[in-house]
Amino acid sequence: MIVILLGPPGAGKGTQAERIIDHHKLTHVSTGDILRSSVKKGTELGNKAKEFMDKGELVSDDIIIGIVEERLKEPDCKSGALLDGFPRTVVQARSLDKVLEKMGRSIKAVIYIDVDEEEIISRLTGRRICRECGASYHLNFNPPQVRNVCDQCGGGLYQREDDSFETVKQRINVYQEQTEPLINYYEKNNLLEKVEGNQDIDEVFKEIKKILEN
Ligand code: AP5
Ligand code: MG
Ligand code: ZN
Repeated sequence: MIVILLGPPGAGKGTQAERIIDHHKLTHVSTGDILRSSVKKGTELGNKAKEFMDKGELVSDDIIIGIVEERLKEPDCKSGALLDGFPRTVVQARSLDKVLEKMGRSIKAVIYIDVDEEEIISRLTGRRICRECGASYHLNFNPPQVRNVCDQCGGGLYQREDDSFETVKQRINVYQEQTEPLINYYEKNNLLEKVEGNQDIDEVFKEIKKILEN
């Protein structure tokens, strides 16, 4: 089963993904996490991607589609994958349809987490990420038990370079121009499940659980 998490930057895709994979046999595939790990390793892909990510722009469709296609073929994605941050353009969505068709697989649901702009900004500027496992925290809304230490693995927390106010604004613009059209795309395919994202993490998760259990 393939499930897609769609939503603006800071909607809570990564936060909900951590909870969803604890309850369902899905492997979390986050293109943002894959790119950040390449940046950290200093690979050719990482160096190329960093330029775009730091500006809040998207990395090119070709690169991303190749990454996801390879990732979906790995054994841990056999029983299912939870796509977070992909697809992000109509070109990516069409390519995904083709890749899945070739593999004889299909999308079960597209969960669209809707959050307003003011909330996005306060979430992203207060976000902290675990350097080791990528878990996401918030200084006020979801603080770790020990300051600057990950609850799950004990790793240190840091602030993402693209979480500055200016870059967040740019990411919102890019989302509106290039990703929002996917709402319509998946609505037409009868796959869209809208979730109210302006509520507590647990409340959002309850709504998602209901959708996935159906
Ligand atoms: P990516 O890493 O995918 O970033 P994003 O889409 O901008 O989303 P975020 O990860 O910032 O937010 P999120 O929805 O996961 O929120 P989170 O759960 O952390 O992409 C980064 C970059 O990589 C892109 O800009 C692009 O350059 C490149 N890229 C990636 N994929 C690509 C693709 N397919 N094509 C091209 N380029 C690509 O939550 C945010 C904060 O809010 C946290 O602090 C959290 O604790 C808090 N929070 C979460 N839920 C709640 C809640 N309900 N109430 C209160 N606080 C909450
Ligand atoms: Mg994320
Ligand atoms: Zn961690």
